[in-house]
Amino acid sequence: MSGVSFDVIAERYDATRGFPIGVDETIASGILAAAGVPPGARFIEPGIGTGRFALPIAKRGYPYTGIDISPRMLSQLRRKLDGTAARMDLIEADGTALPLPDASHDVAITAGMLHCVPDWRGVLNEICRVVKPGGLYIFESETTTILRRAFDIEWQLLALEYGAGRLHRGFSGGLEGVLAHLGVPRASTTTIILARWPVQATIEELLSMFRERIVSICWDIPDDVYERMMRGMELWADEHYAGRRDTVLESEATVTVTLIPL
Ligand SMILES: C[S@@+](CC[C@H](N)C(=O)[O-])C[C@H]1O[C@@H](n2cnc3c(N)ncnc32)[C@H](O)[C@@H]1O
Repeated sequence: MSGVSFDVIAERYDATRGFPIGVDETIASGILAAAGVPPGARFIEPGIGTGRFALPIAKRGYPYTGIDISPRMLSQLRRKLDGTAARMDLIEADGTALPLPDASHDVAITAGMLHCVPDWRGVLNEICRVVKPGGLYIFESETTTILRRAFDIEWQLLALEYGAGRLHRGFSGGLEGVLAHLGVPRASTTTIILARWPVQATIEELLSMFRERIVSICWDIPDDVYERMMRGMELWADEHYAGRRDTVLESEATVTVTLIPL
């Protein structure tokens, strides 16, 4: 099994990563319009999670296959499907070995997924296999708000200092890495910002994302190392923000996708 299973956060995923009301619909409309997806087109999403991207598309009648290694993420999604007419095939499987026939889908999506998978090339290879020639791959770059970026960078520095090992097990090559592997020139792709919205959080709220191990870059670290890193993080935050943990930081979140013809 390859990849970071989100089982540990499944019950809190939507509360901590969910899109604000209406943003999910804006994203679905944007994807369908930009990609010119015809009715009945079959979608596949490896690493579907709780269906942040998938559900509003499936609710519009598109057949949707969702793959995930986390049974608990899939069961959260199944609950949300109850009472809707959405058609989804949800399969607990590894994105590097899709249990699906060749050329069986029209559009593939990955969102916040490749960075979780060491063999991310294997996921891309499988996408190329199950999507029909002439189909589309929609690559979503990981959505981390600028707000959290300074905290993520500090966390990575602390990980180096305390020898915590690698925080990301998967891909970190961005769009260029994806295109290089697929052999698709940048000029034949289209990148669009599907949604943007304001976000704000206090220093204390950002620290608690780490203290409570909400973010995946916290999950692989042994407890003793973790405690030291967390103390370092709090010291850094107090120095950096003059001890005012109630300071409110404001920023913007965006969801950006690139349409890649296959
Ligand atoms: C950050 S979540 C993103 C979920 C969803 N796409 C979204 O945008 O909300 C990454 C998901 O990928 C799943 N995952 C990680 N490695 C995987 C693999 N090798 N095959 C299938 N799913 C995987 C995790 O369990 C998790 O549900």
